[in-house]
Amino acid sequence: MEPRDIAYAGLGYVGIDAVDPVAWRDFATQVCGLMPANGFPGARKGGAVSIDIEAGGIAPDGTAFLKMDDHQWRLAVHPSKQPGLRYFGLELRDVPEVARASECIAARGADIRAGSDDERAARGVEALSVLSDSAGHRVELFAGPIRDRGFLSPSGAEFKTGGLGVGHIVLYVPDVESALVFYRETLGFERSDYMTFGPGGMGIHFLRCTKRHHSVALLQVGDIAGVQHLMFENTSLDDVGRALDRALSREIPITSFLGRHRNDQTVSFYMQGPSGFDVEIGWDGLIIGDDWVENEFAGGGDEWGHHGLDAAALQPKV
Ligand SMILES: [Fe+2]
Repeated sequence: MEPRDIAYAGLGYVGIDAVDPVAWRDFATQVCGLMPANGFPGARKGGAVSIDIEAGGIAPDGTAFLKMDDHQWRLAVHPSKQPGLRYFGLELRDVPEVARASECIAARGADIRAGSDDERAARGVEALSVLSDSAGHRVELFAGPIRDRGFLSPSGAEFKTGGLGVGHIVLYVPDVESALVFYRETLGFERSDYMTFGPGGMGIHFLRCTKRHHSVALLQVGDIAGVQHLMFENTSLDDVGRALDRALSREIPITSFLGRHRNDQTVSFYMQGPSGFDVEIGWDGLIIGDDWVENEFAGGGDEWGHHGLDAAALQPKV
């Protein structure tokens, strides 16, 4: 088995640190249209998923769990003095695939280990492996998440997830070349496109592990690691427009108004989330196949709009 044969089901979940998880919960639900989790990973009664609607998605330890489809949760916001990325999970097709993939990744020289019972319970998954990417981000491979159904967006939004995952995450990496080696040669991602912009020729590399144009993108801006933005994909343009209306009515700082990206054709807007990094809400992202030919874009990444989304906007906000 080669890394490119690993059967991914996309970016499965994201765990971030934030000073105020309740503020994040309110932003995620009232603006983005996610809903508070009905219950929490690890909490089982008689083997069944325990439901605690009254908790409003806030677990006893103060972590906010948010859902966007039938997965028990897709976004976890952990209380912390220092905001940042705690981990993200790549979902695999099934439980045996986690062992197969881990063996394959270990054969590439990566330091990957099986998750402990406590770690699996904390994520609510049947199988879990843990490793670090070349920039030190904690990457988890998992399968068998708890599905508790019952998703109903407080704003009526729908998210395009399923076998494609949450959306995508764009990461700052201090050394983009070694990160590219890690994601392509160790994890088996394919590069869909590459884009340069700004006077210094900064580049973003868009990487896929499913038919979604990208699930992870890499950006080098100085010597930092972390999240540049997190993207949630809706199933309709109306959902995106309504999210923008909600952001404006709550005076959320808008990084970029509506536009359509040239590479993945997503129509989206960007706003500043509660812990510094941006959140993109989009629709109509390209679904591509194995016959995709990588493009290189230079001097601008949009068909129209996305005003303000320039090299300066890609600098870290915290
Ligand atoms: Fe994006």
